[in-house]
Amino acid sequence: MTNNPYLFSPNRTARLRKVIKEVEGNDQSLNTAVTERAKTLIKSRLHKGTYELSTDASRPDGRLVCIGPGGAFHQAWTTVDKTYGDASWAAHRRGAEATNLPDIVWDAYDLDPIPLPRGETEAIVCQHVIEHLTEPATHHLLTEAHRLLQDGGVLRLSSPDANLFFDAYDREDWAFFWEHDIIYAETASPELFRQMEETDRREYAAYSMLSKMSLVTLDENPTTVSYGDCAAFVAEAGGAQAAVTKACAASDADLNRSLGRHITWWSVDRLREAMRRAGFTDIRRSAYLQSQSPLMRNAFFFDRTDPHQTVFVEACKPAE
Ligand SMILES: C[S@@+](CC[C@H](N)C(=O)[O-])C[C@H]1O[C@@H](n2cnc3c(N)ncnc32)[C@H](O)[C@@H]1O
Repeated sequence: MTNNPYLFSPNRTARLRKVIKEVEGNDQSLNTAVTERAKTLIKSRLHKGTYELSTDASRPDGRLVCIGPGGAFHQAWTTVDKTYGDASWAAHRRGAEATNLPDIVWDAYDLDPIPLPRGETEAIVCQHVIEHLTEPATHHLLTEAHRLLQDGGVLRLSSPDANLFFDAYDREDWAFFWEHDIIYAETASPELFRQMEETDRREYAAYSMLSKMSLVTLDENPTTVSYGDCAAFVAEAGGAQAAVTKACAASDADLNRSLGRHITWWSVDRLREAMRRAGFTDIRRSAYLQSQSPLMRNAFFFDRTDPHQTVFVEACKPAE
């Protein structure tokens, strides 16, 4: 294992200090600044309105399906999602207005069919959903997607790319975890930066990784690993991938029905294998805005969640 000091170099720290200054001199949080920058980029450059097809609401219900839309609703797409009490995911998790309930309320954990007909769907998008599910629920979701698709129909599937986290941990790139969490912090205050600088970086990275991909850092889970024990847990398991696999296996799926957190990890190979088991044969790795279906090459509606850490895979259903 390397112990390269430049992976957490003074240059990086200096750059972060510069950001602190900018945040201090400006009452906008870093998070808002990053979001605004992303919006500007999307509006200015990426596929603005190129594919009118995806905004065509005249298709009959169920021809375009979005499983697990979160807060992303679109008039042309039939949305399938679980609800949280009476609320949508966006209202429950992000405090958004409780409008836009899904067209079809469906919880993958129940293993019920999606109430849409076989073979009539042109395209299905399911992004950043299956890491919230158990493996049986994921298998069921993919089997249902296969049933709904017409010949030539496309399933676009994505999730956080666990390999990025495993590789960063194993090469001791502690800044990867630091930077990642700064982007997602509610308010990236100077105090937060200071706290992070004082933290033991391996400990912080181990906790950050286990808490993102499993429930073991939560007191409510039957097996718990405290903040200070996470690095030892990873070392004892023999590395990042083995540790996260163990942590996922120790995560209580019933508890996750209400929590809705991440409890499985996905890589390109595991996604391919899961699609193959569900009956897909024509499976390809994709990338940000590179869908084989023009319908899904639109940055307003697709690939918006964490493109920098996402693995995209697509399957086209061949004629039987
Ligand atoms: C992180 S959001 C992703 C939203 C959106 N697809 C995106 O990429 O931004 C996770 C989505 O998965 C859905 N989800 C989580 N667990 C689910 C389950 N058991 N059954 C159906 N959907 C579920 C959530 O309700 C939410 O819509």
